[in-house]
Amino acid sequence: MSRTPIMAGNWKMNMDHLGAVSLVQDLGKALEDAGYDPARSEAVVIPPFTDIRSVQTLVEGDKLPLAWGAQDISAHEDGAYTGEVSGSMLAKLGCSYVVTGHSERREYHGETDELVNAKAKKIIEHGMTPIICCGEPLEVRKAGKHVEHTVGQITADLAGIDAADVAKLVIAYEPIWAIGTGETATADDAQEVCGAIRKAVADLYDEATAESVRIQYGGSVKAGNVVEIMSKPDVDGALVGGASLKAGDFAQIVTFYAK
Ligand code: 13P
Repeated sequence: MSRTPIMAGNWKMNMDHLGAVSLVQDLGKALEDAGYDPARSEAVVIPPFTDIRSVQTLVEGDKLPLAWGAQDISAHEDGAYTGEVSGSMLAKLGCSYVVTGHSERREYHGETDELVNAKAKKIIEHGMTPIICCGEPLEVRKAGKHVEHTVGQITADLAGIDAADVAKLVIAYEPIWAIGTGETATADDAQEVCGAIRKAVADLYDEATAESVRIQYGGSVKAGNVVEIMSKPDVDGALVGGASLKAGDFAQIVTFYAK
C-alpha cells in the first residue's frame, strides 16, 4: 500500500503553551527511544491555537520529526470576525493540517456540513491539508444507518473540491459514541465505515483518488488497540484524543508498526 499512515494527536482544549513545550519535548524523546521511522508513519500534533507558535519554534529548532496543525479555522478570509483565526494566520505558523467537522464542533457550535465544506476549501486555499471528521451518534448506529449517515456527511463536506485536492486530504471516521468513552469500535466496525468512505470517494471521483485519500479512525484509540485497528486495509491512521496527551502513549501509537 502506498499510503503512509498518519497518526494525529488532537489535544482538544488541553495544555497551555508551557505544557505544550514539555509534551512536545517528551514526545521527541519518546519517539527517538521507540526507534520512530517517519517513512512508516507520519506523526502530527494538533494543539490549541495558543500553543502553535511554541510548538513550531520547538519542532523547528530541535528538528523533531513532527508536523503540527490546528483544530479549527475561520471560513472567512480576514476582517471583523471577533474570536476567529484565519487560514493565512495558520499557514504562517507552519501548520500542515487543520481539523474541520469534528463532532464536538458540529454538536457544541452548530457546525453544518456546509460550513465544514467552506472551511475545508479555506484550508486547501491556504496550502494546508484538511482532516475532515465525520461519524455517527449512537442512535444512528443502533438504527443500522451509520454507513449512510457518514457517507452523506462526507459527500456534503467534499462538495466542489477537486479530485487533485481530495487525493491529498485526510478523512477521519470518528463514531461519536466511541469518543472519550473508552468504548472503541471494533476493527471490523472501523473497516466497514472506512471502506464505505473510500468507495464513496471512488464513486464521487475515481479509483485513483480513492486509493490516495488517507482515512483515519478515531475514538478511544490507545497503545493497546492501535495494532488491531491498523491491521485493516482501509484504515490509514488514527485521530487520537486522550492518549495523545501522554508522550509515551502517543509514541507507542505512532510506532504501531514496530509491535
Ligand atoms: P479520544 O481518543 O479521547 O476518544 O478522542 C477521539 C477524538 O475525538 C479525536 O479527535
